[in-house]
Amino acid sequence: MAAGTALDAAEVQALLDAARAARGRAHAPYSRFQVGAAVLDEQGRIHAGCNVENAAYPQGLCAEAGALAAMVLAGGRQARALAVVGPGPGWTTPCGGCRQKLREFAADDVPVLIADGQGVQARFTLGELLPHAFGPDHLGPG
Ligand code: THU
Repeated sequence: MAAGTALDAAEVQALLDAARAARGRAHAPYSRFQVGAAVLDEQGRIHAGCNVENAAYPQGLCAEAGALAAMVLAGGRQARALAVVGPGPGWTTPCGGCRQKLREFAADDVPVLIADGQGVQARFTLGELLPHAFGPDHLGPG
């Protein structure tokens, strides 16, 4: 990927493709609200996740959390971009908890693409979604 927040068209398409495919795997029998997410890591790899709900409702997992967990498992430690695909037509923006989870691995300028079956509907930076965030820097070197 190019420096800064620049994402090229191929990266955007790859993120959307991965998030859409993941959405198709969602386990959302309770809300019927299927979500897919994909994260681009510092090595240019893409990791996807879907929401996984649970009969004990609070135990459900968001798509973004799954994608970030897949990135970490694969050895990725920096998220360069995140895409979220919901049902549409409204925007499926990451929940507050997932914004904080992303902050662990992403700087303020990392783009978050909000998409549906039609394409990218909105684009934010993580800093816009989670201003004045508490992050790893607050704890200093471990
Ligand atoms: N959900 C996500 O997976 N990601 C989001 O960005 C918003 C919400 C899930 C959680 C739950 O399984 C369902 O969507 C309805 O809230």
